[in-house]
Amino acid sequence: MSQVRTAVLPVAGWGTRFLPVTKSVPKELLPLLDRPCVDYIVTEAVEAGIERIILVTARGKDSLLDYFDRFPELEARLKAANKHELLERVMEAAHKAEIISLRQPEMLGLGHAVLCARAAVGEEPFAVLLGDDIIFSDKPVIGQMIQAYDEAGGDKAVVSLMEVPLEQTRRYGICDGDWLKPGLMAVKEMVEKPEPSEAPSTSAIVGRYVLPADIFSILETTRPGRGGEIQLTDALATLANAQRVLGYVFDGERHDTGNVLGLLRASLFAAARRDDLREDFLAILDEVHSLLR
Ligand code: G1P
Repeated sequence: MSQVRTAVLPVAGWGTRFLPVTKSVPKELLPLLDRPCVDYIVTEAVEAGIERIILVTARGKDSLLDYFDRFPELEARLKAANKHELLERVMEAAHKAEIISLRQPEMLGLGHAVLCARAAVGEEPFAVLLGDDIIFSDKPVIGQMIQAYDEAGGDKAVVSLMEVPLEQTRRYGICDGDWLKPGLMAVKEMVEKPEPSEAPSTSAIVGRYVLPADIFSILETTRPGRGGEIQLTDALATLANAQRVLGYVFDGERHDTGNVLGLLRASLFAAARRDDLREDFLAILDEVHSLLR
């Protein structure tokens, strides 16, 4: 059994790319078909053996917790109406994992959000999953990474890696180092969102991490970096200097659901894969095509 049983989900962001809807709906509750985005993230973690989910939230985002709570009145009604399948779907989220919520009082960056979870995590290795990256895969990506973490001896951080076009490096944490074998990098250098001219490589971090507990003491002394925020990438760069970061090229189809077109794209791919939706969905696509012609 892996020691990694806790996942931290930083969900405090304002979702400005989705305004105005995010005035009153947390972006993590925006739907990808019939489930909110955050449900896909929690499901990935749970399928990887994670038992405790720590949501790092903020003011105005309490409805996120309602989603993971029971709803006895609704459940009773569905039961009385013999809507058992629907009842199961409604109850599923509340039974997935132990959900712990705490607040990030100020928006001081991803590194700070993770640091806020310190007391709740304790002295254990843990996973971090960012809600904007939804990844469809046969085996949960965070599970692939926990395996890599365990195989490496349980002392090294593991970050997920993906190749990106050079002009996109300014959107990601970028890693460089030595390839130990195909798909596994001993990371030597990490830079948060470099300009293409300054990027050490095109190997970008997507939002999945497995971290040893001592990242917290590093975060505590990490100075604000890119954008004046405390960056997780900068804290990890300190670990990389001590040869304690691995880059793992994951197996899966990643979607950036942090912007309108990215969420639309993810929805289209998800619909194409759903047996109960595919046929009607294809008919809609034909209609859209003829509109564009
Ligand atoms: C964060 C991280 C960045 C990483 C990215 C992945 O940035 O700071 O290193 O590459 O997530 O999605 P954000 O996109 O939250 O600004």
